[in-house]
Amino acid sequence: WGTDGHSVVAPVVPELPPAAAPRAPTPLGLLAELTYRCPLHCTYCANPINLAGYRDELDTRAWYRVLDEARALGVLQVHFSGGEPLLRRDLIDLVRHAHRLGMYVNLVTSGIPLAAGALAGLAAAGLDHLQLSIQDARPTEADAVAGIPAAHARKLAVAEQARLLGLALTANAVLHRGNVGRLVDIAALAAAMGADRVELAHTQYYGWALRNRAALMPTAEQVATARSDAALARQRYGDQLEIVHVLADYHTGTAKPCMDGWGTRQLVVAPTGDVLPCLAAAQLPGLVPVSVRDQPLHDIWYDSPAFNRFRGTDWLPEPCQSCALREVDFGGCRCQAYQLTGDPGATDPACHLSPHHDRLVALSTADPAAVAVPRRMR
Ligand code: SF4
Ligand code: FES
Repeated sequence: WGTDGHSVVAPVVPELPPAAAPRAPTPLGLLAELTYRCPLHCTYCANPINLAGYRDELDTRAWYRVLDEARALGVLQVHFSGGEPLLRRDLIDLVRHAHRLGMYVNLVTSGIPLAAGALAGLAAAGLDHLQLSIQDARPTEADAVAGIPAAHARKLAVAEQARLLGLALTANAVLHRGNVGRLVDIAALAAAMGADRVELAHTQYYGWALRNRAALMPTAEQVATARSDAALARQRYGDQLEIVHVLADYHTGTAKPCMDGWGTRQLVVAPTGDVLPCLAAAQLPGLVPVSVRDQPLHDIWYDSPAFNRFRGTDWLPEPCQSCALREVDFGGCRCQAYQLTGDPGATDPACHLSPHHDRLVALSTADPAAVAVPRRMR
């Protein structure tokens, strides 16, 4: 934001590029990672470890073009994310541009920093939904995870602004060994915040979270309790609050259909303009992302080797190739397969049928007697 509280880039009336001939698959969602800069230091962050490699961010006009090209491709939802997207001074312009294109606009944020009146400006520009992270139900513990003082109180103030503005609000809490015991309290906090929905998502181990896996991993007992606590919370809040409890695939014995299938429904544009099939794919060996600086999004989505490498099911190895669930989970997550086996084309070890499932099992059970491992804040 400028010092007068207004954005510093004049809005531009969008011009849609000529529609390309429709081809399958059509992407529905764009994760626009505007920046990896963030004032918070959460140990479970899924951002890449090499944050210094992402300082050359796309400018406003480049993002306008990305949004235009995404809409022309068929994208209906944009999730402005990061890092912390509020750090982009042009956020309001990007929200307005996406709204004018007819997209459903979601802001994935910690709520920090949010200047007075900024949320009202974003709502007026066309923001449809706010996804606000909370770290814990207890302020002291929440601020310790965020790594800055009074973060919790500031988030509650943002939620109150969202409520007054009538914005759709999802509270999002990442669950880990240090807070999963307060799942019901976190649901209660979300209800008190006036959220429509709370996502209670166990840590997914990518980026900084992978580095901190040993410290974040809950015990088997905690995982079992979390299931019953989520059921209790659902019973307690009924229709008042939608409760989405997402167990980590480390604890389910099944592989998740990561990104709804590689290159099928979602695409990610990193702060520098690299286009990826998922937010962690930059780590995969031999995967060369193409940037929106170099090619149109249409060509990257349909024709780049990165998007075609694991698209569909023809590439699947056994036991996936002959499995009844291959069109359901597409063999699981490519990044997790790489992280645990060294082969991004392997069956995801989260699946109990994977020949490497025992590796994941060995990593998925925290020793209840172990002292907390020091964590590296991002
Ligand atoms: Fe999914 Fe492959 Fe496991 Fe079948 S074998 S459930 S396709 S990961
Ligand atoms: Fe990359 Fe799952 S995070 S495929």
